[in-house]
Amino acid sequence: GFMDQLLGMHQIEMKLSEYFGNQRCIVVSGNSEQQPKVADAFGEALDESLNLLLPEGDNIIAVMGGTTMAIVAEQLTSLENSKRHNLFVPARGGIGEAITVQANSVSARMATKANGKHRALYVPEQLSLATYNSLLNEPSIQEVLNLISQANCVIHSIGRALHMAARRKMNEEELLMLKQANAVAESFGYFFNEKGEVVYKVPRIGIELKDLAKVPIILAVAGGKAKAKAIRAYMNNAPKQTWLITDEAAANEILKGV
Ligand code: F6P
Repeated sequence: GFMDQLLGMHQIEMKLSEYFGNQRCIVVSGNSEQQPKVADAFGEALDESLNLLLPEGDNIIAVMGGTTMAIVAEQLTSLENSKRHNLFVPARGGIGEAITVQANSVSARMATKANGKHRALYVPEQLSLATYNSLLNEPSIQEVLNLISQANCVIHSIGRALHMAARRKMNEEELLMLKQANAVAESFGYFFNEKGEVVYKVPRIGIELKDLAKVPIILAVAGGKAKAKAIRAYMNNAPKQTWLITDEAAANEILKGV
């Protein structure tokens, strides 16, 4: 019955967070690859988690892009009250994604849904190093980068390494290098091997992994059986305060043989 199912899911959540040693795992029933409503449920879980975790005062929430992030943004509800105010910023500059799933769009959408504020980070895709460096010195960009560095909450997804590399149109040489380095996961523009070690970093502006360690509230949202390997790799070495929101399909695959 329903109670058994609930208890079963709770057990999976406990097992998963024990396995990763992270603060909390939330497991939604089903497989987000096959059932769109599962990704909506990620959004509801994210909304509840943010409501619970965000303290009173001024919060800065840095948001990544991707299709999962774009879907969960739609499920947010007001996170504002008389004592709590939230500013959403993109966690990184564009990383070769379609505009609707870019961090800028996702953080703007989240701000709208959550009744918060938003600041965009306008950095074009293909830049020469000289332009890139001079852009970094632009006061308007510095201001947003400064906000990002002060974020007390980060929301991101996790992707499959080679899939993300192809989607971001990385060249043959880079793809070969990723294969040779056994890259299986990608997040924040970093590529990770099965142990969760960084094997490659795409040079982009915004949040750095070393900054992430100091962020008190981190939510990772990713599911689907096909992403299990990537989720395991990233979560193996993720900051321990990370809350993982995933689905049954990924959780069962990760816990197989544990
Ligand atoms: O680009 C941000 C990001 O969260 C990456 O870290 C991750 O690899 C990717 O999105 C996941 O994309 P999707 O949700 O489309 O699978």
